[in-house]
Amino acid sequence: MVKILFVCLGNICRSPMAEFVMKDMVKVAGMESEFLIASAGTSNEEYGNPVHPGTRNKLREYGISVAGKTAVQLQRRDYEKYDYIIGMEQRNLSGITRICGADTEGKVYRLLDFTEQGRDISDPWFTGNFDSTYEDVREGCEALLAYLRKGNDLE
Ligand code: 4NP
Repeated sequence: MVKILFVCLGNICRSPMAEFVMKDMVKVAGMESEFLIASAGTSNEEYGNPVHPGTRNKLREYGISVAGKTAVQLQRRDYEKYDYIIGMEQRNLSGITRICGADTEGKVYRLLDFTEQGRDISDPWFTGNFDSTYEDVREGCEALLAYLRKGNDLE
C-alpha cells in the first residue's frame, strides 16, 4: 500500500485536482487497492468548503468526479500516516514543515520535481487558469506513478 497526501494552500484547487486525477489514473491502471490517496491544505482558510468550480468543471471534462470532497487542513499526525506528502509549490513545502516538523524521513516532495520541469504549479485561485493547472497536475501524477513503479514501491 502506497499512501499519498497531496498538499496545497487552500485544498480547494490544486491538491484536490491532484488527488482525483491520481485516483483516476490508478483506477484505470487497475491498481486502486494498492493506494491510499488524499489531499489537504496548509491553511485552514477554506476548511469545510467544496472543491473550487474551476477544478470541478475541468475534471468533469475528463469524466472525473470530486463529489463529497471538502477542504481539510494538514495535521501533524499526517506525517506518520502517509508515505508521500506532495506539495504543489515551494511555499507548500514550508507550510508542511511548519505543521509537521522537519522532514526527517524524506517524505516531502514537490509534484513537478518528479518531472523534468522541477518547478512550482502556479495557483489558479490567483491566475484563474485551470487549464494549465490540469496539464501540470496530469504530468506530475504520471511522473509520480512512473517513479513509484520504477522504484519498486509497487509490483
Ligand atoms: P489552492 O488555491 O491552494 O490551490 O487550493 C487557493 C485557494 C484558496 C486560497 C488560496 C489558494 N485562499 O487564500 O483562500
